[in-house]
Amino acid sequence: MALRLKESTFFKTIKFKLSALFCSFTITLSILAGVTFYDYKKDFLFNQLKENAGTLSKNLAINAGAALLDSDEMQLSVLVFTELKNPSVLSAAILDHEGKALIHSDIKKIGDAVLPENSFQEKLDIPKENQLKEIKPIFVNGKKIGTALLTMDISPVLKKVDTLKMGLFTATLAFICFGCYLIIHVIGNLLEPLGVLSQAAVKIGHGDLSVRIHENGGEEIRKLSNVFNKMTEGLDHANRNAEEGYLQSVMALSAAVEASDPYTRGHCDRVAYYSEQIALHMEMDKAFVKKLVLAGQLHDLGKIGVDKEILCKPGHLDSDEFDHIARHPMIAWQILESVQFLTKERDIIIVHHERFDGKGYPKGLCGDQICPAGKILAVADCYDAMTSNRPYRRHMDEKKALEIIKGERGKQFDPDIVNAFLEAHAFFEDRESLDKRLEISSRGRVWCYDETFSEADQNTNLAVLN
Ligand SMILES: [Fe+2]
Repeated sequence: MALRLKESTFFKTIKFKLSALFCSFTITLSILAGVTFYDYKKDFLFNQLKENAGTLSKNLAINAGAALLDSDEMQLSVLVFTELKNPSVLSAAILDHEGKALIHSDIKKIGDAVLPENSFQEKLDIPKENQLKEIKPIFVNGKKIGTALLTMDISPVLKKVDTLKMGLFTATLAFICFGCYLIIHVIGNLLEPLGVLSQAAVKIGHGDLSVRIHENGGEEIRKLSNVFNKMTEGLDHANRNAEEGYLQSVMALSAAVEASDPYTRGHCDRVAYYSEQIALHMEMDKAFVKKLVLAGQLHDLGKIGVDKEILCKPGHLDSDEFDHIARHPMIAWQILESVQFLTKERDIIIVHHERFDGKGYPKGLCGDQICPAGKILAVADCYDAMTSNRPYRRHMDEKKALEIIKGERGKQFDPDIVNAFLEAHAFFEDRESLDKRLEISSRGRVWCYDETFSEADQNTNLAVLN
């Protein structure tokens, strides 16, 4: 079904229509030229044979006049058999005034009436038995006393015509193939910039505003490409402004959540930092790290929908209170649900409380059902929570926190991520200087957004299509 749709779309393209038009024109012209040349050449060869036959028969008639008048059969025989030396002559004869053969190269026909029904062959149609009969009257003193008859072999001419036909057919076919290939190639090249524009427009239709195209081709295409690029740049700029505004609002919301709880202040920035360090240690690519850092900063956004009294409650939570707090990943997902440019971050945030053994929330995912970024975020989140003060307990020391995380290897956390965390931990900035630096960096949030849309990302556009 999809293939049929693609084919029908191809048949509607300008490239197909122009190619079909010019190819049809080329095929028609080639066939007409081939047929015309064939007819001309065939006529030429038969005319040549007929002229030759006419000359020979005329000479025979002139030379035979005196001998026929004298009834010199010996001389007439010499003249007739001399004609046979020409390989094109099949037979020769001298006829009397009644059309009977006086002398004939085929002795059996002497005395027979051998004149053809049509005395002169007006047409050049191929005669029966591949023969051409040519007759010339013999006049002496203005009086017709007999007729000279020559039968010519046209087989060599027919062979030449056959060879000509095959040669012309092959040449015409080759010309048509080459011509059509050239037409399709040239039209394809001429319309390529339009194809690039069309693909770019489709990409923009799908929301990719980073698309830019090379301004090459004809003057009209160059101008069109220039206008297109300016238009997409304007759209891209406006879109970024809108996204930046939205992101700053979300950041402010997240900051407000943190600010409302003195115990969790700086938590999101530290989780983002730890996640970044683990991902860099695992040699994850730049785009992965950027999304993870942003997800780390927004991961507790959903706590905006959690009752503050429960959130800041000193002491243990009952099951209802826990269920209430456990809604925060889903609330964050719902807040970000319609935000196209934060789709990946949203998918990381929703799993940051899932566990490797499947006992986490909100969905109870396990193992590789949890994305790698979500697994990293889970370890970083837990580590910062344990090493920070909470309403219900003082912070743990580093050693104890590391022991707990090691103990959760293969249970709460992915063993590979725990190993990477433990290796990266040796290079973590100490807590005191980290808190100090994060405060100075204005919570480190705006820079994160700027880097999400670096110039390197902009280069992944349609330019490569050219
Ligand atoms: Fe959380």
